[in-house]
Amino acid sequence: MERLDKLLSSTGRWSRKEVKTLVSQGRVWVDGRAAAGPEEKVDPVNAVFAVDGQIVDCAPFVYVMLNKPAGVLSATEDRNQATVLDLLPQELKRRGLFPVGRLDKDTTGLLLLTDDGALAHRLLSPKSHVPKVYLAHIEGRVDQGDIDALAAGMVLADGLRCLPAGLEPLGEGNICLVTLQEGKYHQVKRMLAARGKPVRTLHRQSMGPLTLDEELQPGKWRFLTPVERAELQGLEVTT
Ligand code: URA
Repeated sequence: MERLDKLLSSTGRWSRKEVKTLVSQGRVWVDGRAAAGPEEKVDPVNAVFAVDGQIVDCAPFVYVMLNKPAGVLSATEDRNQATVLDLLPQELKRRGLFPVGRLDKDTTGLLLLTDDGALAHRLLSPKSHVPKVYLAHIEGRVDQGDIDALAAGMVLADGLRCLPAGLEPLGEGNICLVTLQEGKYHQVKRMLAARGKPVRTLHRQSMGPLTLDEELQPGKWRFLTPVERAELQGLEVTT
């Protein structure tokens, strides 16, 4: 919780003295009611602020859910190729958003972008074991041997040790859900290729508590809802 005058002045639009005046004139509203005083303690992330009836965005960080299309890089900039940042409006690009983790160029689906470095660190930390669920179309069909191998934790040809992963066949078995608790380079593709089941297409459905909004068409984005933000902030780092 933060003082109202400090928070509103941190937007750069008013000094603390001006906020005090605005509050005393009843022009500052918090969650649909007139602010009690400049020293009032408010929730900077979840409360809704308005001055003269205009919503004021006081959130310290921005959180964006993107349905990444195939063909764009999960990077902030690239000289020759389109990046996920190119799918966002200029004002968001200027805030210095970055993707939380990477999806391969041809992988589609859920990508979180933010300027909250601490949250990104928590989500990506190997200690967090944040589950990531991918829908994979593969060549061949998933069998019990594949399920057991992923569940045991695969060791790939180059010696890479993977943590136990979930594998759930869908339909006739050439589509499956893969659940990782880490995010090594090309991990899903490499694990399934090692089982003789190369991946044709890969789509991320969820990351921890965050699930891709089905309404979001490929290439489209939206801000996280307060509930989604709170769920992400509530993630615990386990050892
Ligand atoms: N695993 C992969 O192989 N590729 C991705 O983009 C994500 C996970």
